[in-house]
Amino acid sequence: MTTIIDGNEIADRIRADVAERARRLNDEGVTPGLATVLMSDDGGSKTYVSMKQRACEETGIEGIHHEIDPGEPAEVLFDRIDRLNEDPAVHGILVQMPVPDHVDTRTVLERIDPMKDVDGFHPENVGRLVAGNARYKPCTPHGVQKILAACDVDTEGKDAVVVGRSDIVGKPMANLFVQRDQGGNATVTVCHSRTADLAAKTREADVVVAAAGVPEMIDGEMLSDGVTVIDVGITRVEADTEKGYELVGDVDFESAKEKASAITPVPGGVGPLTIAMLMYNTVKAASLQSGVPVDLP
Ligand code: GUN
Repeated sequence: MTTIIDGNEIADRIRADVAERARRLNDEGVTPGLATVLMSDDGGSKTYVSMKQRACEETGIEGIHHEIDPGEPAEVLFDRIDRLNEDPAVHGILVQMPVPDHVDTRTVLERIDPMKDVDGFHPENVGRLVAGNARYKPCTPHGVQKILAACDVDTEGKDAVVVGRSDIVGKPMANLFVQRDQGGNATVTVCHSRTADLAAKTREADVVVAAAGVPEMIDGEMLSDGVTVIDVGITRVEADTEKGYELVGDVDFESAKEKASAITPVPGGVGPLTIAMLMYNTVKAASLQSGVPVDLP
């Protein structure tokens, strides 16, 4: 029997816990605030940001959305970040990635006050994560850990194979898996576009996290029986549907589910967790900045 993991159900439970902590902060006169900044015309990015804003409403977080025309100079974005850094009502700042080519991503990430960096992408927060003293765990890999915990998959002593080495998912995922901590203690292999024999690596895995952004690159032939498969990929592929596209993961779901003991679908797997963990980090940010303690699970 293969478990098809319901990401929405797990995310709903986390969101309810986070909303409860947001209410507690509110009782102390602190309304958690999240500023989202979009500098892109990309349809996917627009959808993701509006989902993040909707989640704020449902969680008792004050969501403030900022849009900057992607044709504007980089300074317009930097100035906006400076203003948000100074605004005491804003506890978290999320600049939706990617930004336009003329805007240097590193400068954006370093411009955000590390205390407000609810993505966990600022070098200070990356360093803390690697050092085993995370302030804000990046939302998607943290969500993957929550999925594994909810499915009673203990990573300790297991072979975890991460496919993809992005700063947003692959690298922080590998770092979380390797930590001496709950959801860690795994033996970690990171595969990427230069990996010589990907299938040889994925076949050895107890847990595969697919985060390369290449539709259906991992199929059942590349997996062993009983593996747990977490599909982070979500690519819009042209299709004869009402919207003109469909969302496709990095895993060929039909063949992979014949091998897996548990597998996430796309959509409805990891995506809802990414948003839930952003709410989590925002409430944590409000707690750290106000000095009002909350015990986040
Ligand atoms: N683009 C894709 N995923 C993410 C994310 O987790 N955070 C931000 N800021 N941009 C993204």
